[in-house]
Amino acid sequence: MMAMAGAAVRRMVVVVAAMMVVVGAEAQLQYGFYNASCPGVEEMVRAELKSIFANDTTLRAGLLRLHFHDCFVRGCDASLMLNSHNSTAEKDADPNLTVRGYEAIEAVKAKVEAACPLLVSCADIMAMAARDAVYFSDGPLYQVETGRRDGNVSKLAEALRDLPPSDGNVTVLTHYFGVKNLTFKDMVVLSAAHTLGVAHCSSFSKRLYNFTGAGDQDPSLDPAYAKQLAAVCKPGKLASVEPMDPLTPVKFDNGYYKSVAAHQALLGSDAALLDDSLAGAYVRLMTNDTNLNTFFADFAVSMVNMGRVGVLTGTDGQIRATCGIYVD
Ligand code: HEM
Repeated sequence: MMAMAGAAVRRMVVVVAAMMVVVGAEAQLQYGFYNASCPGVEEMVRAELKSIFANDTTLRAGLLRLHFHDCFVRGCDASLMLNSHNSTAEKDADPNLTVRGYEAIEAVKAKVEAACPLLVSCADIMAMAARDAVYFSDGPLYQVETGRRDGNVSKLAEALRDLPPSDGNVTVLTHYFGVKNLTFKDMVVLSAAHTLGVAHCSSFSKRLYNFTGAGDQDPSLDPAYAKQLAAVCKPGKLASVEPMDPLTPVKFDNGYYKSVAAHQALLGSDAALLDDSLAGAYVRLMTNDTNLNTFFADFAVSMVNMGRVGVLTGTDGQIRATCGIYVD
C-alpha cells in the first residue's frame, strides 16, 4: 500500500515536473519569435529607425538608454512607455526626465501595427531599437531574443528604487545589477553604453564643485578635463550637456574605456570602475582591444542578459496597439 502510494506520488512529481518544463518552455524568449506571425518585422523596425536616426543621430543613445531604464524597472515590459495623468508613472521619475526616444518607439510601433496588428510587443520593439542603435553607431550587430509582452503597471517609486545612482561606487552598482540577476561583469560591460550620448551638467556638477560637500572637486578627475568641463558646466547652468565619451562621442567603440582609464569619465559611476581592481583590470584590458572583438562579443552577451530581466511571456501581460497609453 505504502509502496503504491509512493509510486503514485513519484508519478505525480514526474507529471508536475513535466508540466513545469512545458510551461517554462512556453515562457522562454526565443530568437525569431515573430518569424511566422510577422515575418520581416526586424527589418521593418531597422528601416524605420534608419530614417529616424537620419533626422536625429543623438536618438541612438536615447534608445539604448530607454531599453536599459525599461528593463531595470519591472523588467523589459515597456512599462517605461506608459503615461500617468497624476505624474506617478516610471517616466515621471527624476532619472527618467532626461530619457529620450519615446516618440521614436511610438513611430516604429505604428509602422509595425500597420503590417501586423496586435502581434508585436512594445517591449520587443524597444529591445530591437537598442540593438539597432548600437549597430547604426558602428557597434556590434547581435541577435535579439523576442517574445516579450507588455506590462500595464508603471510606478514612479519603483523607478527611483531600481535605477542605479550616478555617483554609485562599484559595490553599489553591483548590487543594483545583482537585484536584476545581472552579474558584476554585465555591470562593467554594460556601463560602456556610455560610449554613446551625453549627460546633463546636473548629473556630474557635484564632481566639479562640491564633491564631499566642502566645495571641492573630485580628485580622481584629470585636472585638464575638469577645467574643460567647468567651462561648460557652470554652477547654476545645470541644463548644459557634455559627451560621456569625450574621445569618440557618437561612435560605439572602446573610447569609453579609454576615457575612464585616462580619468576622463564624466559620471562618478564610470570613474568608480577604476577604484575596483577587477573592474579596473577589465577597463584597461578593453583599452587595448584594438579590433574591438572582445568588447563587442561581451557587450552583445550582456545586452541579451539585460533583455531577459523580468520579462512577461506566454499569456502574461498584453500586446497593445500603442505603447504610451494612460494607466491612471
Ligand atoms: C551602471 C549604472 C549606470 C548609471 C549610474 C547610469 C547613469 C546615467 C546618467 C546619470 C546618464 C546621464 C543622464 C543625463 O544627465 O542626461 C546616463 C546616460 C546614458 N546612459 Fe547610463 N547609467 C548606467 C548604466 C547604463 C546602461 C546599462 C546603459 C545601456 C545599456 C546606459 C545607457 C546610457 C546612454 C546611452 C546614455 C546617454 C543618453 C543620451 O544621450 O540621451 N547606461 N546614464
